[in-house]
Amino acid sequence: MSTPEIVFAGSGGGALTQIADYEAVGGFAALAKARAMTPDEVIAELDASNLRGRGGAFFPTGRKWSFVPKPDRIAKPHYLVVNADESEPGTFKDREIMLRVPFRFLEGCLIAAHAIESKHVFVYIRGEYEQEFEVLVAALEQMKARDLLGDVTVVVHRGAGAYICGEETALLESLEGRRGQPRTKPPFPAIAGLYASPTAVNNVESITTATAVIELGGAEYAKLGVENSTGTRVFSLSGNVVNGGNYELPHGFPLRDLIYGVGGGIAGGRTLKAVIPGGSSTPILTAAEVERVTLDFDSLTGAGTAIGSAAVIAIDDRCCMVQLAVRVSQFYEHESCGKCTPCRVGTRWLTSILQKIEDGRGSQADMDLLLSVAERINGKCLCPLGDSDAIAVASYVDKFRDEFQAHIDEGGCPLHGSSSLDH
Ligand code: NAI
Repeated sequence: MSTPEIVFAGSGGGALTQIADYEAVGGFAALAKARAMTPDEVIAELDASNLRGRGGAFFPTGRKWSFVPKPDRIAKPHYLVVNADESEPGTFKDREIMLRVPFRFLEGCLIAAHAIESKHVFVYIRGEYEQEFEVLVAALEQMKARDLLGDVTVVVHRGAGAYICGEETALLESLEGRRGQPRTKPPFPAIAGLYASPTAVNNVESITTATAVIELGGAEYAKLGVENSTGTRVFSLSGNVVNGGNYELPHGFPLRDLIYGVGGGIAGGRTLKAVIPGGSSTPILTAAEVERVTLDFDSLTGAGTAIGSAAVIAIDDRCCMVQLAVRVSQFYEHESCGKCTPCRVGTRWLTSILQKIEDGRGSQADMDLLLSVAERINGKCLCPLGDSDAIAVASYVDKFRDEFQAHIDEGGCPLHGSSSLDH
């Protein structure tokens, strides 16, 4: 299968951080094209491309923009907020996009602003992404010097290290200067977002891809990838593989080929035990399932998991699945904002039961309790954070129940704690 570059096009494996270099590969032609179109025409191209959100929810980008009311319907400022608070464990693609193709990303911001008739763009960037912040600010300065922004202001706002601020409404709260905690939805940000005004919230990769959609035309873009999952995706490959990294591949690429081909196989001559396909919040796949799935929405959903943020984590045979569950659950417990009870109490409860099982102190009743707590979290939280913990943990039990059972029967970890996560 050929591997067209859309997001990273023209970068040749390097970084396009000088405006002249970006222009030399056709940079800003899409912006000029979009500005010559009406906002509705831009949205129609996005609809034709069937570009779907790359942050994890896979919501159609054109549809999201079309939800933002026309300025004459809601007489308030309209905002574009870009979610660059990438934090899902295993996910590190937006970081590379901002570092390597900052102008394509910023060009996409201006195209999106035109589509939703906004003059105000906020890029909310993860606090730890210092270099990325500097690259973006430097790129913006170059664009200002060339008068490319027009009457649009672009503010790059740094977060402060809270995973929850990647949830769109918590992000908006944080941007407004309040504690980053989710709001109830509806109303969705498209109607009442930043400062209670119409706001499109999009992921970095979605926005960067929008530039390519306008450049190529929606119909042409839609020829890439597979039905329902058009175009390319930047997959973050990590874990026990030889060649971890970000790889831009067409949707529909076989998962096995990503791991054994592009990724060079399992490190140290070990064998693959499982794969988390779309970031830590997505249900795990066994090595046997890996052979059958392709990296697109339909295939992964059909296998009972999700494409999520396209963060593929390979896990080899040294890993104790109970310990993996403990680590994942600890993460969500730590990052829970505490606003809603099922998440605040449930994630803590899950972690403590899992730790008990891992330590060999678990009983049969704990197994039942674990699944019961997971069930009572799932679908009952204000935002997906608690659900993510519950869904991930329940999937480990579902796929590797024997291993959990062995901890209870043998009073400890059958792998004697020799988890790959310890190394
Ligand atoms: P969601 O499905 O609730 O919403 C998706 C988007 O569509 C949102 O922008 C929402 O405002 C919009 N939307 C949905 N229905 C709408 C309607 N009726 N009217 C107007 N707008 C509507 O999903 P959410 O909570 O935004 O994202 C969850 C995903 O985030 C998870 O699946 C996970 O994969 C991903 N995630 C990604 C992380 C990262 O670092 N990239 C971190 C954590 C989670």
